[in-house]
Amino acid sequence: MVSNDLHRDIEAVLLTEEQIQRRIAELGAQISADYAGKELHLIGVLRGAVMFLADLMRHLTIPCSCDFIAIASYGMDTKSSGVVRILKDLDDSIQGKHVLIVEDIVDTGLTLNYILNLIRSRNPASVRVCALLDKPERRIVPVEIHYLGFTIPNRFVVGYGLDYAQKYRNLPYIGILRPEIYGGV
Ligand code: IMP
Repeated sequence: MVSNDLHRDIEAVLLTEEQIQRRIAELGAQISADYAGKELHLIGVLRGAVMFLADLMRHLTIPCSCDFIAIASYGMDTKSSGVVRILKDLDDSIQGKHVLIVEDIVDTGLTLNYILNLIRSRNPASVRVCALLDKPERRIVPVEIHYLGFTIPNRFVVGYGLDYAQKYRNLPYIGILRPEIYGGV
């Protein structure tokens, strides 16, 4: 019988559900304090940041709204092509708004750099970045992450919104995918 157990494809759990949730509560408190007296417009980068944005938003005590943008990234591959294009643009204007970009992981930095330039060109009051994970070893373009969940080693991870070939997003933790699954090393 073919196994359908996602957990079996995971080599090791890198961040447990508890670790992730505790850190998100801290980030929410920090962001709420920093933006006290202001309204915040969250921009989630589809699809990986959906769970992170949903959990983070519940820890914000300031008035906030959200919108989503979708950018073409890895697809079936685990290597960044450097080719970035918009699959889904924002629904609302961001002119004069305090924008917080919510990203699942910053790897080469190409995606975030592209989104930052796009957002800045639309005259928001301010722009900051909140990323759950950072893989600094793979950076090609330097990008400033104002609020960061965790720095992780250069391994391909899945779970808590992150996928490989659209699978594993529903795992409640972040785990290292077995290299034989994606043909990596
Ligand atoms: P960057 O443009 O190379 O920084 O890539 C950012 C995007 O690549 C993220 O939003 C993810 O969708 C994807 N990505 C990068 N590393 C991983 C990983 O380890 N697992 C799953 N997706 C990843």
